[in-house]
Amino acid sequence: MPVRTGEPSDAAFIVEMARLASAIEGRPLPPADDPLLAQGLPPSPDTSVLALDHDGHPIGAAWWHFREPLLVVTPDGAPVPELVIAVMPADRGRGVGRRLLDALTARAAHHGYDQLALNVHIRNPAVRLYSRAGFVVAGKGRGPLGVAMVRHLP
Ligand SMILES: CC(C)(COP(=O)(O)OP(=O)(O)OC[C@H]1O[C@@H](n2cnc3c(N)ncnc32)[C@H](O)[C@@H]1OP(=O)(O)O)[C@@H](O)C(=O)NCCC(=O)NCCS
Repeated sequence: MPVRTGEPSDAAFIVEMARLASAIEGRPLPPADDPLLAQGLPPSPDTSVLALDHDGHPIGAAWWHFREPLLVVTPDGAPVPELVIAVMPADRGRGVGRRLLDALTARAAHHGYDQLALNVHIRNPAVRLYSRAGFVVAGKGRGPLGVAMVRHLP
């Protein structure tokens, strides 16, 4: 499955993925113009990766961003980039998420980062995917049921 770096023209798709990534059980997705959503978007297109179907249409995306308050900082106070990921509902469970995680990890290492962090709701089944991909629990995350996880990059 092809994965490519984000481009400026992917902005609308990334917003749709950000909406999916902020889903909380049983609640409607936030609107595309939600200010909280805007805080979690990639700072530039090249901090994102997109997975494509056979026709070249995007089916999922992952990116990193820095959102205040920072989720994880290094012992010397440097911000650790925070990952966001989502895959279109019809394309889940086929390895797209894992492929995006690995591609973003490589990209973050290329940008000189040595860790990636993420926030996940404790009941989100994505926790298993993150653990398999090498993320470990690093402490409390955002909100009452958020968990912070980190992965040290090669
Ligand atoms: C989490 C997500 C990106 C995983 O993408 P994916 O392409 O299904 O992932 P993969 O096929 O590589 O791996 C499947 C694993 O993802 C996890 N998973 C999480 N939600 C899932 C779902 N709805 N369907 C299938 N797998 C899901 C499981 O751990 C699963 O492995 P398991 O079946 O062994 O438990 C995708 O389910 C998604 O977009 N979910 C909604 C948005 C979201 O929760 N984002 C994360 C916010 S922290």
